[in-house]
Amino acid sequence: MPLTIAIDGPVGAGKSTISDVVAQRLGILHLDTGAMYRAVGLYMLENDVDPKDQETVCALCEAGKVLVDVRYADGAQQTLLNGQDVSGRIRAQEVGKAASAVSRYPAVRRMLVCRQQEMAKGQSMLLDGRDIGTVVLKDATVKIYLTASPESRAKRRMLQLKEKGDETPFEAILAEVNARDYQDTHRETDPLRQAEDAVLVDSSDLTFDETVSAILSIVEAKK
Ligand code: DC
Repeated sequence: MPLTIAIDGPVGAGKSTISDVVAQRLGILHLDTGAMYRAVGLYMLENDVDPKDQETVCALCEAGKVLVDVRYADGAQQTLLNGQDVSGRIRAQEVGKAASAVSRYPAVRRMLVCRQQEMAKGQSMLLDGRDIGTVVLKDATVKIYLTASPESRAKRRMLQLKEKGDETPFEAILAEVNARDYQDTHRETDPLRQAEDAVLVDSSDLTFDETVSAILSIVEAKK
């Protein structure tokens, strides 16, 4: 039986990096679904389309102009937009904001959820995102809701930015985290929420390694 793992949670909870390590330890592929929403956001920014213009964004997706796919090179995810590897470009902060806007639209979600379900069919895989346990993989073997307090998520983000020489103050980062939480949990289509059968992991007071161990123990117990 394939092992499917769903990890959902708010922005800055460390889902992507933690998921990468957990998947590696289990020897299965990791699909970072946020990267796919980022690719749609990037397309809009690069083609001068306002990500808030729902009608145009949805029309482009429905017309097949925004083809998002994923491939793996040595187990590492590469995110493709119309055949081009955009894995680096989607990490810009403005792309994150555009992704948050386009992820509200049903046409965008339908297109990406369909591809995610196809990829996870019949093979062991770990998917992380906002709606994996509630929509994409309702029957996942293991569901985790990984969160941390807004303050500790903002603090981690501030330290990451400092390493890159960015001195954005804590209050500004905290405001951004709270705004993103509000958007992700209040959108009409598939809002972020903990699935009823998901196990809550609060990493506010856990180190990276402790969080990975906590998740691996949950997986072991469910397997
Ligand atoms: O996890 P991330 O920051 O890379 O995600 C980018 C945006 O995409 C985020 O605002 C929420 C959205 N998203 C989503 O709606 N559903 C998912 N499964 C993954 C991400």
